[in-house]
Amino acid sequence: MTLEEKALQMTQLMPDMLYHLAPANLTGPLRQWHFTDEQLRCAGSVLGRSGAAYLKKLQADYLKDARLPIPLLFMADVIHGYETILPIPLAQGCSFDPELVAENAAAVAEEASAAGLHVTFSPMADLVRDPRWGRVMESSGEDPYLNGQMAAATVRGYQGDDPGKKGKIAACIKHFAAYGQPEGGRDYNTVDMSRGMLRDFYLPAYREAVRAGAAMVMTSFNTVERVPSTCNKLLLDRILRKEWDFKGVVISDYTAVEELMNHSVAADTLEAGEKSLHAGMDIEMMSGVYAASLQELLEQGRITEEEIDTCVIRILELKNRLGLFENPCKDADEALEGQLCGCREHLELARKLAREGMVLLKNEDVLPLSADGPVGLAGPFADTGGLFGEWSYMGNREKTRTLREALEEEYGTGLVTAMTEPFRRDDMPSTAEEPSPEEAPDPGKNVHTEQKSPSPDAPFRRRPDVPDAVEEALERFRHCRVCIVTAGEPEWETGEAASKTDLRLGPNQEKLIRALHDAGKKVVLLLFSGRPLDIAPILDAADAVLQVWFPGSAGADAVTDILTGKYNPSGHLSMSFPRNVGQIPVYYNCYNTGRPALDPQSHFSSRYLDCPNSPLFPFGYGLSYTTFSCHGLKIAQDASTASALVKNTGSRRGETVVQLYIRDVSASVVRPLKELKGFRRIALEAGEETEVTFRITADMLSFYNEEEQWGWEPGEFDIMIGLDSQQTEGQRVSISVIS
Ligand code: BGC
Repeated sequence: MTLEEKALQMTQLMPDMLYHLAPANLTGPLRQWHFTDEQLRCAGSVLGRSGAAYLKKLQADYLKDARLPIPLLFMADVIHGYETILPIPLAQGCSFDPELVAENAAAVAEEASAAGLHVTFSPMADLVRDPRWGRVMESSGEDPYLNGQMAAATVRGYQGDDPGKKGKIAACIKHFAAYGQPEGGRDYNTVDMSRGMLRDFYLPAYREAVRAGAAMVMTSFNTVERVPSTCNKLLLDRILRKEWDFKGVVISDYTAVEELMNHSVAADTLEAGEKSLHAGMDIEMMSGVYAASLQELLEQGRITEEEIDTCVIRILELKNRLGLFENPCKDADEALEGQLCGCREHLELARKLAREGMVLLKNEDVLPLSADGPVGLAGPFADTGGLFGEWSYMGNREKTRTLREALEEEYGTGLVTAMTEPFRRDDMPSTAEEPSPEEAPDPGKNVHTEQKSPSPDAPFRRRPDVPDAVEEALERFRHCRVCIVTAGEPEWETGEAASKTDLRLGPNQEKLIRALHDAGKKVVLLLFSGRPLDIAPILDAADAVLQVWFPGSAGADAVTDILTGKYNPSGHLSMSFPRNVGQIPVYYNCYNTGRPALDPQSHFSSRYLDCPNSPLFPFGYGLSYTTFSCHGLKIAQDASTASALVKNTGSRRGETVVQLYIRDVSASVVRPLKELKGFRRIALEAGEETEVTFRITADMLSFYNEEEQWGWEPGEFDIMIGLDSQQTEGQRVSISVIS
């Protein structure tokens, strides 16, 4: 291969650029890339397009023109479903059911591979604590252990034991690393934390996904220890390659190599290319730095050909592993694509996962709904197929069943609907200011956003007050004892570049809920959102609250299953709910501080004057239509096991999630108040009791010490078992030896 051919293998573009965009038509920063027509056609991989027919033709045209028979790799953001859209990953986390997550990921891989894709930019293993950040929807939550289980399950589902096999795709873990902790929850913002925090909390989930065999890793936009991830040797070389022995391909995030200049760690394209290559960054996504700089860097002796070859070999190995040299289109098959995408079996799996991920936050004797009298249904999600949230790749909202349709099947003419439009959340005041010249948006990025998510026509438009609409709803619902209100945030307020400082429901939504409550109705609040919202101001006005997240293609059926009681809710929160925005970040696995707020009389303790420290709803929390007790904690003499008796104390069958937490009471560095170390989802008949046993391992007691060594320190530990992170039964044990 010539040097230019190598550089282009290391470049990823959009296919439109390869075939439909002459260099003369490139705009914005893309213009500076100086690609020739020929070069544009020779990038080694493309992103963001799928469809068996389209990709087969693209591959054939590419190979026809290519000097060397090296096929293109096709990658895309299949984040929570291809055509069958799954509940958002945050909801998947609430299922505490990695097996079902893996089964669903396998179904996704079947659809995506039949549609010609080779790699998906998923799972996202970023740990999240700040719901102001729009991308919390793409994560499975605030816990390193749960995230690790979910990320690994997703990788297993996509790849099976070999991503080259039929019906499988390669997984790309992202965003390495710690993208989930941007200051102030503002997307792309600075990340800065101690090495210990990084190691103990933020890295474990990526490591689990690497252990599960993920073929690729994507770098993140942020800095870690003042160095952007994309050229961060600590992350990419020392930790990922050397410690974790990752042999796969590393790709940058979108234009992140070029952005090294904005970060002020590269003076020019040459330096950006040099630093990324030295860190071992194999594929550059959507900027032309490698193509523009490698030749000159080599001539100046700033890089070696060996470094380039190492990257290129990794890329070619991936192509080989996927069988592309023999079969460049892998599983692309129009007929199969038609059969599998959105098929009944996949919808059924998605429905199960959506149900398991919904969390019943409150229920005062109203759910499941009894069939006496008409039921009211209102709010922006009542009659729409827009139940996906961002990153819903090929999901078709037009074809998706709406809640009204699903509920009508149950209640027929007994269902009374009220207008939905006025209660949308798009009532944010216009706070957008003119960007300063340094912050001016990158026009190149528009290409990307346009491809990925059609933006709303008027994002900052304030909706007028709607007293009439509230009056009208009250009038329509005058004979309804129970009213279901769908509320939350619009789909487009979730995902990338969707940070917010106001997490309350729209004023019109709050008014409607309050008015129905004041009129003596039983209010069932269905919360559609990609993040924990600030629902404290309205909580007292709702008799029941079901957090349904963005539930996906089978979402309406899943909600209906729960409302009617055909399915007993069993989801448990994967992220704490704040009492207000000022309390963020609020998460369960925090440190104790020197002045913990234990004594309400003690003024000089770590507390707020105007708000408790505890969350509104804690991690691990979730109600059911039955009740459970968890008691009788027993720890083996040698501390090798911990068990508890879990009983269904109510009157119907149900499932719950039994959670094991551990606290290291005293160690060489501070340790969290509790950390999830195991969980078990169990089903119990009414009145049934079972013993749940967890094995305690050295790994569960271990952490990174000041010397960055992984291990555990003998001493006292609190071992706790419970049904959420706050209500646990615990015992203090002294451990000096463990298997
Ligand atoms: C996002 C990634 C995504 C990539 C490709 C970026 O803007 O941060 O998560 O995989 O675009 O679409």
